Order: sequence, then C-alpha cells, then structure tokens
Amino acid sequence: MTSAGSTAVSTDQLSDVPAIARMGVVGAGQMGSGIAEVAAKAGVDVIIVEASESAATAGRARIEKSLDRAVKAGKLDASEEVAILDRLTFSSDLESLTDRELVVEAIIENENAKTGLFRRLDEILEDELAILASNTSSIPIMKLAMATRRPEQVIGIHFFNPVPVLHLVELVTSLHTSSATQDRAAAFSGNQLGKRVILSKDRAGFIVNALLIPYILSAVRMFESGFASKEDIDQGMVTGCAHPMGPLALADLIGLDTTKAVAESLYEEFKEQLYAPPPLLARMCEAGLLGRKSGRGFYDYERRS
Ligand SMILES: NC(=O)c1ccc[n+]([C@@H]2O[C@H](COP(=O)([O-])OP(=O)(O)OC[C@H]3O[C@@H](n4cnc5c(N)ncnc54)[C@H](O)[C@@H]3O)[C@@H](O)[C@H]2O)c1
Repeated sequence: MTSAGSTAVSTDQLSDVPAIARMGVVGAGQMGSGIAEVAAKAGVDVIIVEASESAATAGRARIEKSLDRAVKAGKLDASEEVAILDRLTFSSDLESLTDRELVVEAIIENENAKTGLFRRLDEILEDELAILASNTSSIPIMKLAMATRRPEQVIGIHFFNPVPVLHLVELVTSLHTSSATQDRAAAFSGNQLGKRVILSKDRAGFIVNALLIPYILSAVRMFESGFASKEDIDQGMVTGCAHPMGPLALADLIGLDTTKAVAESLYEEFKEQLYAPPPLLARMCEAGLLGRKSGRGFYDYERRS
C-alpha cells in the first residue's frame, strides 16, 4: 500500500485482497444512487436502504433514469441494464443489511444522523470483518468510528458527483483504521469499481473539499455583494480557467444544503473565516432553493428542462 504523502494509491498489488461481493448503501439520494449504480455495474450485489418506501422508490427511479440514459447513448446494452437492476435491492429496513461485507453510508451531511446510523449498523452487521464506510464530504471519520465497537473497520470512501462519471475516490483513514481495512477499501474502489484512489488524512473536508468549498463560498460572496452577476462569475471560470462549470453552477450540482453543511464542518474544524457560510447560502437553504435536486438554486432547472 502506498503511504500518505505519495501520489495516487496504486491498487495493482492488492489483487489478492478479498473482493466485496455483498454491499449495502444507506441513502439513495444523488450520491447513494450513483454509488449503488457503479457497484452493481461492477457485478456487486447491492442492497440500498432509504429512510422510507417512497424515498427507496425515488432512488430506484433515479438509477433507472441514469441507466436508461447510458443505454440511449450506446454506452450500455439493454440486457446489461436488466442484469444491473437485478443486482439491486431496495429496502427501507436497515436490518436487511445483516450479511453485508461493506456498507457505504450516503445519508444527509449531519453528524448526529451519521453517528446514530453507524451505531445501528455496528449492531446489525454480522460479519465481524465487515467494513463501515462513509461518503461524508467533511465530517471527520474518527467521530463516526468512535460511535462503533469496530473503529479499525471504519473508513471514508468519498466518491464524486456524478459517481458514474467522475473517476475519483478519496480514501480517508482515521487514527484507528487498520491497514487491512484500508487495503480492502482501496482494492474495492480501484480494482472493482475502476476508480482512481487518493489518500487523505482525517481532517474535515479531506483534500478536495478543503480546496473546493472556500472557492465556492468566495463566488457566493462575490455574487451576494453585487460585485458581478452569477452568469459572469461562472463564465469567468469556465472560459478563463477552462473549468467544466462555474462555481455557482457547481454549488447547484452539489446541493446548497450539502455545500453549507460541508462549510460548517470546515469552519468548526479550522475556525477560519474563509470557511464560514455566507448569509445568502443560509437564506437559500432555508427557502428550499437547494440547486438541481430541488429544481432551483442559483439557476432555475425546472424552466431549463
Ligand atoms: N452532493 C455531492 O456533490 C456530494 C459529493 C460527495 C459526497 N457527498 C456526501 O454524500 C452524502 C449524501 O449526499 P447527497 O448529495 O446524496 O444528498 P441527498 O440529499 O441527495 O441524499 C441524501 C439521502 O439520504 C436519505 N436519508 C436521510 N437519512 C436517512 C437515514 N437515516 N436512512 C436512510 N436514508 C436516509 C434521504 O432520504 C436522501 O435520499 C452526504 O454526506 C454528502 O456530504 C455529496
């Protein structure tokens, strides 16, 4: 295993690490549904647990829509789509995860909700080697690990949005994470899912969000102060810096609630002003203007589609 401090993790030498055959995903929002989709595509049997039957149905619809899009684009055969959907089971019962070897948590970015869930999952999982992973963007893994009796088997596996498109995974190890857990999570992400793996220490925001969130918050402050229009801010970064989208469009894609929650975790950890969520971001969240997932954020997606 490559140690922290070097570049991307090479998973080639991990071919003898046992593969994950049975996985659970908790939360089927933007991220959970993407994680479940790529795992099922890779041949893994996946049980997805949502908070309610209706949310589970919405998660299934999200995955079907994404697979349909891949079929229409000629990237996937219709027969493969059927096989992938066969490997996905949707449930609203956490107890259905008892036989899982790995569970990836992708619920809302809220520390209390996540620690409560980790406590429950620790009780439910029967395999004493089972790994409990979080897709959190910013909450220190140690806080989740200490809610369980298996802190050495708790790790951050941080995917990027949209999961079927973006090839990066940040692995986040706490001071308690064992090297066996790190190797298995790296082999799963790199060799089974085909992701590029980088390794981060357990600090709020990890590598990517510690850099990205202050940039997005600066764009929100720039817009809020009337310095420039949202279109010009985004155009500036797209055309001037060759970014695929501008910071305000990116905040809409991430979700403004998630952006704010990540900023709050970073602020709590480092107490630096650049991480403080600007008032406009808070007001938009209170108004339910959460970005693409709610139909409107800095931009209006209902009118666009
Ligand atoms: N949005 C992004 O760009 C992004 C990127 C990387 C990581 N993340 C992280 O992934 C996680 C999920 O983010 P998202 O964008 O998918 O959010 P989301 O709001 O789209 O989805 C969250 C889902 O979790 C479900 N949920 C909430 N509590 C639950 C519970 N107790 N049991 C089961 N399901 C529950 C909700 O019903 C919802 O469907 C967060 O921790 C976030 O920080 C988000």
